[in-house]
Amino acid sequence: MGIHHHIRKHNGSVLNLLQCAILFAFIHLLFLSPYYVTGQKNDGVIITLSDFQSLQSFKRELIDFRDTLKSWNGSRNGACSGSWTGIRCMQGHVTAIQLPFKTLSGRISNKIGQFKELRRLSLHDNLIGGTIPSSLGSLPNLKGLYLFNNRFSGSIPPSIGNSAQLQAIDLSNNLLTGFIPINLHFAFAFHHFHCSSNNNLSDSIPSSWGTQNLRSLTLDHNSLYGSIPNSLGKLSNLEELALNNNKINGSLPKELVGLNHLSSLNLKKNQLTGDILPTIGNLSSIRLLDLSENNFTGEIPASLENLPNLTSLNVSYNSLSGEVPIPLSEKFNSSSFVGNIELCGFNPSSPCLIPPSASPSESPTASDETGNRHRRRLSTKDIILIIVGALLVLLFILFCVLMCCLIRKRAGGSISKARNGKSGGVAGIEKGIGAGAAAGASSDAGANGGKLVLFDGPFVFTADDLLCATAEIMGKSPYGTVYKATLEDGNQVAVKRLREKLAKSPKEFEIEVSALGRIRHPNLLPLRAFYLGPKGEKLLVFDYLSKGSLSSFLHARGPESTIDWPMRMMIAIGITRGLNYIHNQENLIHGNLTASDVYLDEQNNPRISDYGVHRLMTDTANSNVITTAGAAGYRAPELPKTKKATTKTDIYSLGVIILELLTGKSPNESVDGLDLPQWVASTVKEEWTNEVFDLELMRDVSTTGDEMLNTLKLALHLVDPSPDARPDVQQVLHQLEEINPKLVADESSEESAEKEHH
Ligand SMILES: *[C@@H]1O[C@H](CO)[C@@H](O)[C@H](O)[C@H]1NC(C)=O
Ligand SMILES: *[C@@H]1O[C@H](CO)[C@@H](O)[C@H](O)[C@H]1NC(C)=O
Ligand SMILES: *[C@@H]1O[C@H](CO)[C@@H](O)[C@H](O)[C@H]1NC(C)=O
Ligand SMILES: *[C@@H]1O[C@H](CO)[C@@H](O)[C@H](O)[C@H]1NC(C)=O
Ligand SMILES: *[C@@H]1O[C@H](CO)[C@@H](O)[C@H](O)[C@H]1NC(C)=O
Repeated sequence: MGIHHHIRKHNGSVLNLLQCAILFAFIHLLFLSPYYVTGQKNDGVIITLSDFQSLQSFKRELIDFRDTLKSWNGSRNGACSGSWTGIRCMQGHVTAIQLPFKTLSGRISNKIGQFKELRRLSLHDNLIGGTIPSSLGSLPNLKGLYLFNNRFSGSIPPSIGNSAQLQAIDLSNNLLTGFIPINLHFAFAFHHFHCSSNNNLSDSIPSSWGTQNLRSLTLDHNSLYGSIPNSLGKLSNLEELALNNNKINGSLPKELVGLNHLSSLNLKKNQLTGDILPTIGNLSSIRLLDLSENNFTGEIPASLENLPNLTSLNVSYNSLSGEVPIPLSEKFNSSSFVGNIELCGFNPSSPCLIPPSASPSESPTASDETGNRHRRRLSTKDIILIIVGALLVLLFILFCVLMCCLIRKRAGGSISKARNGKSGGVAGIEKGIGAGAAAGASSDAGANGGKLVLFDGPFVFTADDLLCATAEIMGKSPYGTVYKATLEDGNQVAVKRLREKLAKSPKEFEIEVSALGRIRHPNLLPLRAFYLGPKGEKLLVFDYLSKGSLSSFLHARGPESTIDWPMRMMIAIGITRGLNYIHNQENLIHGNLTASDVYLDEQNNPRISDYGVHRLMTDTANSNVITTAGAAGYRAPELPKTKKATTKTDIYSLGVIILELLTGKSPNESVDGLDLPQWVASTVKEEWTNEVFDLELMRDVSTTGDEMLNTLKLALHLVDPSPDARPDVQQVLHQLEEINPKLVADESSEESAEKEHH
């Protein structure tokens, strides 16, 4: 009985899970600005007769064999009351029809053109066939059209270009043929056009898209021919261009260099020829560059090594020659380069026989201006010399610091003596933390106008104690470096040194940091003190938890230590409680939540750190961190565009952490080019499988399977690509507590104990 019960339950959940999962697979396709998802509640105005009749026609032409539209019954009163599945209204007009994943077939009624206020038509992931009605073009307010993963055939109706408000079209994975309508005069805001996979459009690539704002253009897996139009280079906001698996020929237009927001360029499997232009090295945002399976000739330009964000490169199966620039061959393995008969130097079995230039013992300054290589591999001897040199310098610095602290200790000049009868320090945190200031000057900072403010907490220490503590680096974050500091009395604290250039002016900083210092919650790492140095140095002092971060707890443990499901669940709930407090009691946003920001105390209670740190930083610094340095695997997909952290971006990060707990996989490592949420989605896409879960959780799957599955579903909900669709933290907490009521009981008793303690 027990087993059957579970199997049935799992099957019952498969569809929901599948929905979440497939939805997720379209994370990039689905990204929408929040305002055109008509999120508001239906306003109770009764539907107009015209819209009512159009809905009835719409339903009649669909085949609904699961009866998902059974709520579309009765009179006009119901249609806009919120009880009709998938219908949203405003003032008696239908504004959105959203029926994805409903196993609908049949076709779309031409009456669709009657919904004059329709903003969003989302019917993706169904089995709807027939042609795409040309009356869609008469919807003046249509902003989003999502018909992907269906069976539409015929060509894209040219009238679609008449919808002047259109922002996003996704027709991928249908059976469409014919031309890409060229009379598209898309609205200013038009930003996504997807028509990839399985379709068979047969056209040249339109040279005009009528808008500069296109951000994503994917036309892969069609039969497109002709060359890449120069004018694509004018789409200066383009971030993603996928033209792979077509029949495109000609060479790369040099105008492409204008695409300075481009992060993904996929031209795989076409018939492109000519050189890989050195100017590709100016596409500074590029992360993925796939030129494989074409017929590119010439050498790989050295400029590609300048691309700071390039994480995926593929030039395999072309006709390239010459030597792979060394930085590239070090960064990418041979599968990025194979299949080019005359290319060498990318693995030991393809050595370059002709020495590149000059003599082997050239001087280090002889970088060659014209050639490919700016760097030489260092000999072992060079490396040893460098290491020895570095060690000597380090020793010297350490010595200086030691002296400075000793001298001061003898002189009895430390404030600590007066305050708590202890003095001096051992080796200098100021030197460890201080970036290159002279040892003598910086160690006086405490007495020299620096300011230390302590908030309530178990330790009392002075600025001098802090600056002379021994320090070792624990980690780095975009906002600064974190040190473990051992004070002279043996107490340990975590010290974060903020990057000065990024922080607000001392005055604003003090106001904000004082607010942060008052926040106390059992799941938040308390800020115990801050230090403002005379030259603007800013240190934050936190409790040091020896168990380290959740990230290292999960990913850097011995093979013998296991983390069972209840413990993971407890951690998930704890983090959610902390976030709930931040959002709802403090009205704060975390802004950069990752598993490395969560520390565990002795009882494995999670404590979130770094909450609100972005309040201490300038706005420019924050948006830079969000766009470039933020923790990649945890970052909500809308962030690169909105550049603004919100409660919903925090929820996304929380979702990733929960997926991390479930799968045991680190979001920092992509698998097959997919991030963690995408990987989870693609793994459970075809059928429900336990493969997603961390292997060690499978032992107890017979008792905890349902909890794990429900948590997985919840997590996929949190990482929904549309921020509006993500629940808020209170709902998440509520659901997690529902999934495991037993743990909650244990937890809250601990929590109240903790509260009494404070
Ligand atoms: C319409 O459908 C809803 C939900 O299926 C049901 O509760 C309601 O009784 C139906 N109303 C009529 C008038 O059939
Ligand atoms: C796609 O269209 C091209 C040109 O119209 C045709 O030659 C080819 O057979 C089609 N491919 C498929 C898979 O239908
Ligand atoms: C690739 O280009 C080279 C040189 O232009 C040519 O000799 C070769 O036939 C081409 N290969 C293919 C598969 O088109
Ligand atoms: C090369 O790197 C790719 C992606 O980084 C990886 O998927 C592949 O397994 C690696 N191949 C080898 C032979 O190491
Ligand atoms: C590069 O492309 C080739 C050919 O499609 C593929 O076999 C290989 O796995 C790819 N390598 C990487 C690192 O993406």
